Amino acid sequence: MRIGILGAGNMADALGTQWARAGHEVRTSGREPADAFAQAAEFGEVVLLAVRHEGVGETLRAAGSALTGKVLIDCTNPVVDGELVTRTGSAAQRVAELSGARVVKAFNLCHEDVWRMTPPAFDGAPLVVPLCGDDPAALATVESLVRDLGCVPASGGGLARAGLLEATAALVIGLWRGGADAQAILPPLAYAQGG
Ligand SMILES: NC(=O)c1ccc[n+]([C@@H]2O[C@H](COP(=O)([O-])OP(=O)(O)OC[C@H]3O[C@@H](n4cnc5c(N)ncnc54)[C@H](OP(=O)(O)O)[C@@H]3O)[C@@H](O)[C@H]2O)c1
Repeated sequence: MRIGILGAGNMADALGTQWARAGHEVRTSGREPADAFAQAAEFGEVVLLAVRHEGVGETLRAAGSALTGKVLIDCTNPVVDGELVTRTGSAAQRVAELSGARVVKAFNLCHEDVWRMTPPAFDGAPLVVPLCGDDPAALATVESLVRDLGCVPASGGGLARAGLLEATAALVIGLWRGGADAQAILPPLAYAQGG
């Protein structure tokens, strides 16, 4: 499929390289030339939003009406200096309001270098990627893009729950910066509801 990427930085390169390897056509875009975001949005059957939080509004305005109704993957983190900067709702819900796209929150929990792994797997188990979104067809499309990386998709619920993924990113970034292994804070599934 054709994947347009709004952004030409680390996440655009990491995910775009993986999807190109899987056989997709990928077009990235930065702030120059002036119509780059609109061109990438037009090109993509699916679009990945991969710009820094402060550039989200400007980027979506530049991408324009080409995003209406499209599957838009939001991997952005509204986290500045380790702090969650959204006060109500989520960045993903704002992205949906600004773009008119069918937004799926995904790929925001792991560092770019994890997304570059072929495949991202630890102790023999593939990485699980939670998705939040409201549109079943959009979720199915993003699930297939998760599998293209060798990862396993998991439902995180509707877009109203995307803020939980964003808050989780802020939490684990803080743990990692403090030297704690965020993966170790939760018990295995067998213990999740008591022993
Ligand atoms: N890096 C990670 O490990 C990681 C992991 C998970 C989620 N994320 C999230 O993914 C998003 C992208 O991260 P990244 O590491 O790829 O960032 P990055 O390497 O700094 O690249 C940022 C991209 O955003 C564009 N951009 C920056 N400020 C902008 C503005 N004010 N208006 C429009 N565009 C702007 C840049 O455009 P130019 O090319 O024109 O400069 C660039 O293409 C962020 O929201 C981040 O929180 C990152």
